Amino acid sequence: MAYSEKVIDHYEHPRNVGALDKDDSGVGTGMVGAPACGDVMRLQIRVNGQGIIEDAKFKTYGCGSAIASSSLVTEWVKGKTLDEAMAIKNSQIAEELELPPVKIHCSVLAEDAIKAAVEDYRKKQGGAPVAAQPEM
Ligand code: FES
Ligand code: FES
Repeated sequence: MAYSEKVIDHYEHPRNVGALDKDDSGVGTGMVGAPACGDVMRLQIRVNGQGIIEDAKFKTYGCGSAIASSSLVTEWVKGKTLDEAMAIKNSQIAEELELPPVKIHCSVLAEDAIKAAVEDYRKKQGGAPVAAQPEM
C-alpha cells in the first residue's frame, strides 16, 4: 500500500517527538493502544494558566500512519484551548493525511490520545470526574 506524501513527510520528519514531565500538574498525558494491531501512542500536552495548550509531545510505537497522525495532532493542538483540542476528529486527520480505509484506525488512535491527554490534565486540576482511562 502506498503512503501519501504527507504521511511520509511526517514519518521521516516527525514533529514534537519526545516527552513532558508527566508528574507536572500542568501536563496531561494520554496513553492509548489500538486493539486492531497492538500499536501504542503516548501524547502529552502542557497547558498554560490561560487554558491554552502551549506544548505537545508524542511517542508512538506503531505504523507510519500512526506516527504521522500523532505528529500532525501535536502540531494542531498547539495554541488551542482544551475544548478545541477535544473537538479534533479522526476524520480530519485521515483527510489531511489521505489515509486509506485500512489505516483509519491509526487516526482514531491519535484522536483518542489527545482526548486522553486533555482528560488527564483536567483530572489533575481536580475538576469533575472523567471517564476512566484504560490502564496501559
Ligand atoms: Fe503494523 Fe500497526 S499494524 S504497525
Ligand atoms: Fe495500527 Fe496504524 S495504528 S496499523
